[in-house]
Amino acid sequence: MPGARRNQDRVAGGDQRALAVQLHLAGPLEQEVDLLGFPVAVALRGLPWFERRLGQALIADGRRGQAEKLSDRGAVRRRERLRRLEGADLHAGEPSGFGQNRPVTSARDLEQGYTLPWSWYSSEELTHREQERIFRRAWTYACPAGWVAERGEYAACSAGDVPIVVVRGRDGELRAFVNVCRHRGSQIASGRGRRETLQCPYHAWTYDLDGSLRAAPRSEREQSFERSDLSLRPALVQELGPFVFVCADLDAPPLDEALNGMPELLARDLDLDALVFRERAEYEVGANWKIAAENYLECYHCPVAHPGFSRVVDTSPGDYELRPGDGVWTQLGRSRDGNGSCQFHLVWPALKVNVYPGPPNLSIGPVWPVGAERTAGFLDYFFGAGVSAEEASELIAFDDQVGREDAALVESVQRGVRSGTIERGRLLLDSEMLVNSFQKRIFTALS
Ligand code: FES
Ligand SMILES: [Fe+2]
Repeated sequence: MPGARRNQDRVAGGDQRALAVQLHLAGPLEQEVDLLGFPVAVALRGLPWFERRLGQALIADGRRGQAEKLSDRGAVRRRERLRRLEGADLHAGEPSGFGQNRPVTSARDLEQGYTLPWSWYSSEELTHREQERIFRRAWTYACPAGWVAERGEYAACSAGDVPIVVVRGRDGELRAFVNVCRHRGSQIASGRGRRETLQCPYHAWTYDLDGSLRAAPRSEREQSFERSDLSLRPALVQELGPFVFVCADLDAPPLDEALNGMPELLARDLDLDALVFRERAEYEVGANWKIAAENYLECYHCPVAHPGFSRVVDTSPGDYELRPGDGVWTQLGRSRDGNGSCQFHLVWPALKVNVYPGPPNLSIGPVWPVGAERTAGFLDYFFGAGVSAEEASELIAFDDQVGREDAALVESVQRGVRSGTIERGRLLLDSEMLVNSFQKRIFTALS
């Protein structure tokens, strides 16, 4: 078992089929360990249902010689290759009470309406992978453009778990940098404000607003200290109407592609440039970020769980439109009194954009994982310039009520999926088509 640590690995006396049920492997993803003479990637940890089936397949009489080396990258490919073992029954021998539904083994299962495995909603390891593969590569909303309109104004924000600072340079250019000091890694800027330079609070390394390192106390005593090698790492930034977007991945596709027509849809109901920022609401919920996003992606629960919302918006299937898009999932509705419409968009992976019926309004903000079972987020509320403080407060209170109802729902779901008693759920492919589409995107991103 080179380089891996096996903490619990035992065979229940004589019962070969129990081998993998009892197997728990600790170690980094993609590291290989030896199981019955076959190399198996540690990525299997966190997918206990697969471990069981792997054990059953490998142990089956006469199959060991036929087993392929399970050493390629990616759990999906490993699963597919294992399925091809002649006669291997990957779904036999389920302990009673578990796995009445067989787990997802391919995108085909998602096509049929099964959900992602519920173990994917409480795995710290998977959350780390999601940060790496999803959040660090995606565009997200950062702050109102008004926060960084003047030269020297800056605002700290984040793209997933990457701290970012957006700053308006002395030359009027808007730039974004990874908000991490090149000395020992402290975050440099916090909150928002206006400065001549960005100075790290730890040892006072000072960066110019263009990201270059201007001064590092005592560095003149060093023999080789190249300030020019130690500029802040740049990130992508773009303004769109009253919004600023950022992305930590310099190779990401352009923002237009990520927003995939959403601004045009919003412009149907709103003059985006005329919106004025009013306030930011921050929140956390005790649920995996995917549960929070999936809850946002359907209104099947609205008549049951949001009585106030459902009195205002007609959520019946014929009148509430769901549009699965490529990276933008849209819901369009109308108010029951016929005097307004609403739009709700989720931009990959988890940026929410809401427009309610009523006076010109829009709220925008991401959610992101702060742990496998905890999600943070914020919403920035914008209104038309003529909207009164009273109207704005009323709409924010209305949205806050819906948000509190949703928080209770997703935390309840988290307790359910965490229980480990059921392997996955079953969606309604009509009313929950956006959830299904979102899960396919997750599946692809992690495969
Ligand atoms: S970590 Fe920033 S100056 Fe030391
Ligand atoms: Fe809801």
